[in-house]
Amino acid sequence: MVKSKVFILQKQFEGLPKPGDLKLVEEELPPLKDGEFLVEAVYLSVDPYMRAYAPNLPLGIPFIGSQVGIIKESKNPKFPVGKYVVGMFGWRSHSVANGESNNWASLPTYILPDFGKLSTSLGLGVLGMPGNTAYFGFLEICKPKAGETVVVSGAAGAVGNHVGQIAKIKGCKVIGIAGSDDKGKWLVDDLKFDHFINYKTQDVDKALKELAPEGIDCYFDNVGGEISTTVMNNMNTFGRVSVCGSISGYNDRTSKASVVQFAIVMKQLKVEGFIVSRWNDRWSEGIQQNLAWINEGKLKYKETVTEGFENMFNAFVEMLQGANFGKAVVKA
Ligand SMILES: NC(=O)c1ccc[n+]([C@@H]2O[C@H](COP(=O)([O-])OP(=O)(O)OC[C@H]3O[C@@H](n4cnc5c(N)ncnc54)[C@H](OP(=O)(O)O)[C@@H]3O)[C@@H](O)[C@H]2O)c1
Repeated sequence: MVKSKVFILQKQFEGLPKPGDLKLVEEELPPLKDGEFLVEAVYLSVDPYMRAYAPNLPLGIPFIGSQVGIIKESKNPKFPVGKYVVGMFGWRSHSVANGESNNWASLPTYILPDFGKLSTSLGLGVLGMPGNTAYFGFLEICKPKAGETVVVSGAAGAVGNHVGQIAKIKGCKVIGIAGSDDKGKWLVDDLKFDHFINYKTQDVDKALKELAPEGIDCYFDNVGGEISTTVMNNMNTFGRVSVCGSISGYNDRTSKASVVQFAIVMKQLKVEGFIVSRWNDRWSEGIQQNLAWINEGKLKYKETVTEGFENMFNAFVEMLQGANFGKAVVKA
């Protein structure tokens, strides 16, 4: 009998998640039925969407999330023993799965592609869901052209740093907005962003006017709230906004929303939200393009790795508070 460690949603989050909100328990897994396989977690993801989706989850269920795991037993020929698999199995050390993608997020369950010498953990970041979010969410919605000015918020996170680098690959001028000067140094010195704004210490409106007097053509929005209203007010006519997330409101639902519609009307902006599963049918295209860019030296990545399944909660809260550079993952 296989035992699994599982984090159960015990109490709804109020503000920033607190330790007692999730409970770590041990459960026995049932024997495999035909079509099923047993996965042992190798790397697990902590993502902002977990906080955003939590209010809609029933109490008592395993907390939601994706992982890269290794298949230990199998009664499904498409998922053979010894292969790595990516799936939305939740915060669990061991899982019984059947390969169906009928999870809450409609994201695919799939055998991890061959990344060569690169870490399998990248299947949760630059070569997985966040990477595809950057690739499709930016290129398909912003449709950037060489010479245009692009602003990215949440710029040092998993999706944001990747979007900025794609914008550089496409010949754009890129300004990143993030929460520390160390992050800014990484974005400008290593990733070759043109400019950086620290939203915690700088006047974002003033900085944008100085750094982009020509106006902003594309905005990739990871954060929402005041930062986004300020960016949109500095956009050019017919600018394009890809709304990816709104992390500024995930822990704080009390903030008074500013009116962004004036900027949308006056600049005649095209604003479009998306969920990355829109491109499930092109999933491997995104991974292969990002892998090719890494291998060509055009795309860099960083991971903030926390050791130990038991430390998932800390890794999650630290990510929500901005401790991560690039993708936050947990090594089981
Ligand atoms: N639409 C989709 O399909 C899709 C898919 C994936 C992700 N997303 C969204 O994309 C965004 C980024 O996700 P990610 O996985 O790449 O996470 P991430 O950026 O790696 O991590 C979250 C970051 O958010 C920043 N942050 C936290 N509170 C903030 C606040 N009040 N204002 C501004 N920034 C804040 C922190 O960096 P600082 O130090 O800069 O504050 C933190 O590092 C999230 O909104 C997420 O929900 C959407």
